[in-house]
Order: sequence, then C-alpha cells, then structure tokens
Amino acid sequence: MSADPSSLQELFTKRVVLMTGKGGVGRSSMTAALATLAQRKGVRVLICDIGDDPNDYSPLARHFGRDRLPSQPEVISPGIRGVVLLARSGQELFLKSVLRSGTLARAALSSDALRRLLSAGPSFKEMGVFFQLLTLLRAKQSDGAPVNELVLIDMPATGHTLSLTGLPELLLRLVPRGPIAAALREGQSYLNDPKLGAAWVVAIPETLPVSECLELLEGLHKTGMPTGGVLMNRIPVDPFSAAERSALESTLERINPLGAEGFRRPVLARREIARLRAGTKLPIIEVPELAHSAELIAGLATALAEGLKP
Ligand SMILES: Nc1ncnc2c1ncn2[C@@H]1O[C@H](COP(=O)(O)OP(=O)(O)OP(=O)(O)O)[C@@H](O)[C@H]1O
Ligand SMILES: [Mg+2]
Repeated sequence: MSADPSSLQELFTKRVVLMTGKGGVGRSSMTAALATLAQRKGVRVLICDIGDDPNDYSPLARHFGRDRLPSQPEVISPGIRGVVLLARSGQELFLKSVLRSGTLARAALSSDALRRLLSAGPSFKEMGVFFQLLTLLRAKQSDGAPVNELVLIDMPATGHTLSLTGLPELLLRLVPRGPIAAALREGQSYLNDPKLGAAWVVAIPETLPVSECLELLEGLHKTGMPTGGVLMNRIPVDPFSAAERSALESTLERINPLGAEGFRRPVLARREIARLRAGTKLPIIEVPELAHSAELIAGLATALAEGLKP
C-alpha cells in the first residue's frame, strides 16, 4: 500500500461516494471492501448498484452471499445495507413529489407514451437514479441523524458516471425553476460539495486503463464532480529483489523468451503508476493483487486498512 492514508480516511466522512472506472478494473470489489471498512469503523453504510431490472444478477451482491440487492434498502450483512437503484422507481418517486400524489404518478407511469419518453428521453434514466439517490440521502432517523451516513455507489461504467454527474447542469439549463430544478439543486448540494460528495476512480496499472482513468478524471472535473483520488488496484507484487530484477531484465532482453511480458508485469505496472502520477495531483492509493479466494474482499479491506495506518 502507498502513502496518502488521510485522503482515503476522508472517504469515510462523505455522504455520497461514486465508485467509478473502466469495466473490469475492480469497482465492485472495491465498493464491497470499502463498505466492509466503513462498517468496521461504525459508519452506517449503504451500498448501491444501478440497474434496469430488479431481477438482474449483481456481482456486488455476490460478495455478500446474495444474487441481487433488494429494491428497498435492507441489511445485507451485519452493519451494511444495500439497495439497487432502479431508474423506474426513481422516476416514480420523482413524479410523486412533482405531482404530489402516488396514484397520479403511477397512472402517469403506466401510460405507454410517458414510459417510452422516460426510458428513451435524454437523461430521464439518470434522473430516476438521481432522484432515488436524493431520497436515500435525505432520509433521517428519529434523532435527526442521516439513516445512511455514507452512500457508496458501484457505478456501472465511465459514460454513465459522467451522464449522472453532468445531469443537474444540463437539466437546469432546460428547467431552471420549479420542483425539478429544486430537486436537481438539492442533489448538487450533496454531489458537488467536496465536503459531502466524491468520486473515486478505480484503475489497474496498465496502459489503456491508466489513459482512460486520466480522461475520466478530466470528465469528472468538467461536470463539477469533486474527486477523492484513484484506487490503483491489482498491483502485482514483485517477487524479485532490485539486484535480481536487473539481472533478470538483462537476461530477458538477451533471449526474449515466451512469457517475458509476465515477468515484466511489475516493472510495467510501476511505469504506468508513474505516468498516472505525472498526469494528476490527486492521491493514488495502491492496492495489491491478491490471490482469488472467498476471502478476497476481507483481504482487500485489510490491505486498505493497513494503508490507513499513519
Ligand atoms: N486486488 C485484487 N486482487 C485479485 N483479484 C481482484 C482484485 N480486485 C478485483 N479482483 C478480481 O477481478 C475481477 C473483476 O473485479 P470486479 O468485478 O470488482 O470489477 P468491476 O470493475 O466491478 O467489473 P465490471 O465492469 O464487470 O462491473 C473479479 O474476478 C475480482 O475478484
Ligand atoms: Mg462491477
């Protein structure tokens, strides 16, 4: 693990954290590991998947022994709650608050034309997710404290993240006043306030993922989304000492055997991390590659916790 423990520590003081990054880099595993750490710290954490169908299989839920997350927040593991954010439930909530009646909202949603508009119209899908998220952030306990102190969202893909973070500004240009505008501004007050919201980008130390990570950081900046840092996942552990490594490198250069790339992975990884460091001032938290096992998430949580030690 790397330096910057305080920046990762800060993640646990936010209300909403978007876990984003290119496909397959470990967003779901990191979301599960961070939720485990939050729970160990006594933070009331809610993890969210974003889905189209409540019956879809969820790799995030799998880490907690389930096939999918519930469509209403529910305890999925001691001290950890989970929910799947569905565009449609959010749209219903949203229409309810605009139309001030559940019956009217349901009637509106059952009209085919409106449903088509809501699923095809620009940004309406994100609007549903956005509004459901807002409802979860607003929820208060009887003592006034938030029900969900930290909402951790396993974002589906880079493009979707930028659609969500760019949504308020886009829609506020079209609808600057009224209840929609008020909801968008309230959402912005969480997401775009660096004290309350952050996006963390998960990446792996390879050429394309690092380039995409740099592009994503720029995209997030353009949409006004504060960024916490990069979780550089799956860093291969170099089994060789520096002397062994230099002997190995000269041999590899000489004979260039089949599989030389595999031997070079740790070296290439360091090069890509250096390239990322040159491209951003944000903290980069290094997470090792661990053996595949049922204990992966607990292992990742422990590796992250090690890095939190001053
Ligand atoms: N640090 C790690 N060490 C070893 N294996 C890891 C590590 N992080 C993630 N993995 C493995 O990599 C694979 C992809 O991880 P994960 O599903 O979390 O990625 P993702 O970004 O959510 O993918 P998707 O784009 O499919 O949603 C999984 O098999 C996971 O077990
Ligand atoms: Mg995933």
